[in-house]
Amino acid sequence: MKNKFVIKVAEEKHLPYAQTIVDEMETSAKMRGTGIAKRSPEFIEKKMMEGKAVIALTTSGEWAGFCYIESWSHGQFVANSGLIVNPQFRKSGLAKEIKERIFQLSRNRYPKAKIFGLTTGLAVMKINSDLGYEPVTYQELTTDEEFWSGCKSCINYDILMAKERKNCMCTAMLYDPEESVMKKLKGRRLDFSKNSKLYERYMRIKKSRLIRLFVKPQNPVIK
Ligand SMILES: CC(C)(COP(=O)(O)OP(=O)(O)OC[C@H]1O[C@@H](n2cnc3c(N)ncnc32)[C@H](O)[C@@H]1OP(=O)(O)O)[C@@H](O)C(=O)NCCC(=O)NCCS
Repeated sequence: MKNKFVIKVAEEKHLPYAQTIVDEMETSAKMRGTGIAKRSPEFIEKKMMEGKAVIALTTSGEWAGFCYIESWSHGQFVANSGLIVNPQFRKSGLAKEIKERIFQLSRNRYPKAKIFGLTTGLAVMKINSDLGYEPVTYQELTTDEEFWSGCKSCINYDILMAKERKNCMCTAMLYDPEESVMKKLKGRRLDFSKNSKLYERYMRIKKSRLIRLFVKPQNPVIK
């Protein structure tokens, strides 16, 4: 697996892959039936030109995966967003490798930043947890309006707003460089794999409760 893909910081020569990446992001979101913040090919190209994206290709040059960095609150917060793996290469550890690479890149470029993610995906939660992220409340994330306005194109945006940005379908996870050092010193780290069943259950309950708030009964009771 390790030698099958070339994983590197994207640059100008990778611009032609932008449209494929955007198309796959949209297709995958539709397949999952979940919300997604929409990205344009121009946006992806900009990330590549700024050296804020990681791309994975096969040794024959076929696109295999992608992820990019965004920074908020004047660089105090960083998100590794838009993780996507070509469906034919999924479940072989590629997302994990891409996330490790983009995490390193984020740490190098923004050593003091808190790195966070919002996701409904168990795979991503697992990878994040291995990297040292911990689940947090939304209040611990950036308050940067620009970040939250990225959620406008998500199908769950009404839920987010109704909950006054305090909760939604996504689980928030955060890597705090300062806390991480403390936890390493104390030997205290959350083991996600031991708790993944609990998370699955928590997410099911959260989803059903949040959705219930928004689905009107078919036959309302007339008083
Ligand atoms: C989510 C996605 C990036 C995972 O890519 P991948 O290359 O298949 O993931 P990996 O093989 O690196 O798997 C990472 C871990 O998650 C687990 N995993 C993978 N897919 C999973 C799934 N659907 N449900 C639960 N766990 C899953 C793997 O078993 C692995 O755990 P391990 O390290 O204990 O073996 C890929 O399915 C994808 O592109 N999906 C569509 C876009 C998307 O959902 N992006 C995330 C937005 S937040």
